[in-house]
Amino acid sequence: MRFPNLPTRLARWAPAAAALAGSTLLSGCFWLDGPQSTFDPNGPVAREQLDLFYVTCWVTLVIFVLVGSALAYAMIKFRARSDADLHAEPPEQHHGNPIVEVSLIAASVFSLVVIAIPTLRGVWFSYDVPEEEKADAYEVTATGYQWWFKFEYPNEAAQTPDPTGKLVAAPLTTGSELVIPAGRPVHINLRTVDVIHSFWAPKLAGKVDMVPNRGNFLWIKAEKPGYFWGQCAEFCGESHAVMRFRVIALGPREFNDWLNAQMAPARRVAALAASEGGPPKAQFAAYREFRRNEPGYTDRFDVSPLDAWRAQQLPGGGEDPALIAKGRELFVSKTCASCHTVRGVDGAVGVQGPELTHVAARTTIAGGLLENNRDELHRWIHAPNEVKPGNKMWVNGYLKNDIKLTSADEDALIAFLESLK
Ligand code: CUA
Repeated sequence: MRFPNLPTRLARWAPAAAALAGSTLLSGCFWLDGPQSTFDPNGPVAREQLDLFYVTCWVTLVIFVLVGSALAYAMIKFRARSDADLHAEPPEQHHGNPIVEVSLIAASVFSLVVIAIPTLRGVWFSYDVPEEEKADAYEVTATGYQWWFKFEYPNEAAQTPDPTGKLVAAPLTTGSELVIPAGRPVHINLRTVDVIHSFWAPKLAGKVDMVPNRGNFLWIKAEKPGYFWGQCAEFCGESHAVMRFRVIALGPREFNDWLNAQMAPARRVAALAASEGGPPKAQFAAYREFRRNEPGYTDRFDVSPLDAWRAQQLPGGGEDPALIAKGRELFVSKTCASCHTVRGVDGAVGVQGPELTHVAARTTIAGGLLENNRDELHRWIHAPNEVKPGNKMWVNGYLKNDIKLTSADEDALIAFLESLK
């Protein structure tokens, strides 16, 4: 069987197929309520930037429609209708029409002014906390590391026991999760210890780079309590794509409670009373094989990430004090302590990796990549390089210090880390 007119038929269907493919692609782009969607602003800075985007879109859409219509009109009206048309002499040529030219220049200038006014206003507005709100502004410092974010609270004094047991105050430090007061402007100093990173919490504000040897900053304001996704937005090495963070905005009371909990040194789990029938053994879900770089979340984060964060603040049941004590010893003897600070654990004063004093109260580990639970903690400390290729814990810790963990060691370390609420 032959299809003599197959090319003609294909040609007829090609535009329909292209339209279908185009609209499918567009619907992918217009998935507007994703966790990192800039189309769902939750603060004045992000909203100002989205408004500017729409102004630009409308102006360019009007230009597109005008130019497109003129083009379509000319193509249809002056198309070749016959063989004679195809071979006809071109009509007499004219060069320039002052009225058309001047109006086109005027229209272009007008469009640029329409875009420029809100652009300048937006640049000015998103630069720093507005003057009238400065007195109420809260200050934090975010520092980029390959590949995680450190957050410091310069005006909050956290307590660390010195060797004699006396409490010494130092600025509060956390990692991967930035907790801020909702409804207040937050001025964020941006620093980096290594290469250029970029701080981006899409629902709160546009991205601003963290540049070596240069102090940058931005401001955000979460209008109401919420849980927001963030991401490094500047290529910074092999694990750039998995350099993430979260911003958690809390009402004034809840924020104060959180601050008070964070100021305290690391929690110690005392032995249970005999009446409680002895500590249950740590239970581990069957470990499954993870794919390299597979993000680890359970669906409770889809339902209500803020409630999941709140639940994370409370100590879990079934803690085994002996196992936790063993984990605390291993944390120092296996040299974890030389890179991670845990206030209240002797010798745990390292600053190369994230501060872990209250790590169990965070919803994520591994630089915001994995959900903080037993499975993911195991996956992370068992083979960090499988989760985040090239990370410093693997290269400067496991490989350099030849760290070997037995499965019993891993159980104890996980129990210790999970006790750090
Ligand atoms: Cu840090 Cu990309």
